[in-house]
Amino acid sequence: MSEPIVRVRALSKNYPRQRVDASPWARLIGRVWGWTGALDDWRPLNEGLPVLKDVELDVRDGEILAIIGPSGAGKSTLLHLIGALDRPNHGTILYRGEDVTLMSPGRLAQWRNERVGFVFQFYHLFPDLTAEENVLVPAMVAYSVSAYAAKRADLRARAQHLLDRVGLGDRRHHHPNQLSGGEQQRVAIARALLLKPALLLCDEPTGNLDRKTGEQILDLLWELKESDQQTYIVVTHDDRLAARADRVVRMEDGRVVGEETAPVRAVIAAKGEDAEQTQVASVPPGVRPPPDHGNAGA
Ligand SMILES: Nc1ncnc2c1ncn2[C@@H]1O[C@H](COP(=O)(O)OP(=O)(O)O)[C@@H](O)[C@H]1O
Ligand SMILES: [Mg+2]
Repeated sequence: MSEPIVRVRALSKNYPRQRVDASPWARLIGRVWGWTGALDDWRPLNEGLPVLKDVELDVRDGEILAIIGPSGAGKSTLLHLIGALDRPNHGTILYRGEDVTLMSPGRLAQWRNERVGFVFQFYHLFPDLTAEENVLVPAMVAYSVSAYAAKRADLRARAQHLLDRVGLGDRRHHHPNQLSGGEQQRVAIARALLLKPALLLCDEPTGNLDRKTGEQILDLLWELKESDQQTYIVVTHDDRLAARADRVVRMEDGRVVGEETAPVRAVIAAKGEDAEQTQVASVPPGVRPPPDHGNAGA
């Protein structure tokens, strides 16, 4: 396969053990300079709790990479850093050779809008907008008013198509508070796919969905990945998703500890349909039966 789309090198992230907020004056002045207000980098006061430790990861162009591992391993943190929603303490993240951690705020906003789609555990839908309008938000942000107006018909058609595909065709005009958690999650997935991002970052995309809806979403994601030539990084506890990924890496205690392409596939392949159903709910993250033992204990 070609050059990696994302290269993560020696990536470390510490969260402060105790968060020390700056004084109101310092925060006010900091705001003026675009600083977010907590003394994250003030090391003597905020001696860090390491949550990512020298993470190294290559993501190949066009692959679906699943990241698995126990809760608290740092999976979400890694995804946030790759999407440049947070900054690392050390290390680099290269997107097609460009260091994301060094991008200016303007360049970063542009890069995120044009290249990256996010599906996170909390969907961050706008309560005042309908499902369809929420799906259109990335376009509203990315385009000028006139460019948006020019593309509006196409964008709406795509938004409607995506909502149909996630099973919400008849809920386009509903607001988030009229939708269940799983339905909101599906709106967030449609929103992330609107502008065909080259890189899609998903944190537990099927986490709140029942089996059938989860399968539909996976089918959609896989189909679009082919047609839109995307790369997915997917944090998941869902074995069905991991089994369909091109590669699976495991994180433990802030580190990428290995790759498990073959075993995961073998476990799923060795199981019947019924066994697979129970597996998803019953096996806690981090406990994965070895392939030769099949599903006897699940
Ligand atoms: N904003 C934060 N401040 C302090 N600690 C955090 C913050 N976010 C996450 N953590 C800690 O970092 C560790 C990794 O979290 P996370 O990346 O969410 O793990 P995972 O997604 O693998 O469950 C956890 O121990 C969590 O408590
Ligand atoms: Mg997480």
